[in-house]
Amino acid sequence: GKVRAPTHIISTISDDRGEEPCYAGVPMSSIVEQGLGVGDVISLLWFKRSLPRYCTKFIEICIMLCADHGPCVSGAHNTIVTARAGKDLVSSLVSGLLTIGPRFGGAIDDAARYFKDAYDRGLTPYEFVESMKKKGIRVPGIGHRIKRGDNRDKRVELLQLFARTNFPSVKYMEYAVQVETYTLSKANNLVLNVDGAIGSLFLDLLAGSGMFTKQEIDEIVEIGYLNGLFVLARSIGLIG
Ligand code: ACO
Ligand code: LMR
Repeated sequence: GKVRAPTHIISTISDDRGEEPCYAGVPMSSIVEQGLGVGDVISLLWFKRSLPRYCTKFIEICIMLCADHGPCVSGAHNTIVTARAGKDLVSSLVSGLLTIGPRFGGAIDDAARYFKDAYDRGLTPYEFVESMKKKGIRVPGIGHRIKRGDNRDKRVELLQLFARTNFPSVKYMEYAVQVETYTLSKANNLVLNVDGAIGSLFLDLLAGSGMFTKQEIDEIVEIGYLNGLFVLARSIGLIG
């Protein structure tokens, strides 16, 4: 039946003109009946297609691993201070989310952009890192406050293990690891961080799944979808 008045806005991801909402053309009942998960819903609403199970599982692992990282990080700090000042849940949440940016959790898109550009242009890790240094830009996806060459980030190791076991190719991630080997030779805190791991592995997901054209991959990387994964994930911890 008629459930909506006409609107001037057209959504290309979601349609609720029928009896039940559809995500990228897939009815809600079918999503539930097939036992699909959050990774599948993200693939429908962000990428407008159903991705293979290993891709949607990877998305879910990213969300689970980045859901929280203790009270010391800028996002949790702001949320806790805001909540203790008596503000409501949404205010506390957004005060934390607003700290996500180039230094904290929001380096995933830039990591994907820079690693892709450097790999596709055939730059050696040395050429890439030194060219960034000349431009005065910190390599996105590299560096951490506590993690070190001899105290690796478990999240990064778990993502790498999953991808090496399930992805058809991990060429961008292996490039990021080579970059890390070079940066670690300069300083022990310059590890591949979780943003860099997700950014490089998402390039492998996009390129290796066979579900995206080269032009679509370029557009996704240029527009920048991937920081959304951290925002979504960390909201879970901030709300908690
Ligand atoms: N590339 C090159 N050099 C770096 C990098 C990098 N990514 N990170 C640190 N350095 C070097 C710099 O020489 C820096 O000196 P400078 O202040 O003169 O530039 C020196 O290491 C020490 O830097 P600090 O600011 O003390 O390092 P800190 O441990 O505080 O920073 C941070 C950690 C913010 C993550 C940093 O490494 C960085 O900016 N990385 C790039 C952005 C990034 O990947 N952010 C996501 C982090 S993961 C997460 O938030 C979930
Ligand atoms: C995080 O996931 O919040 C951390 O890796 C960032 C940090 O500053 O430790």
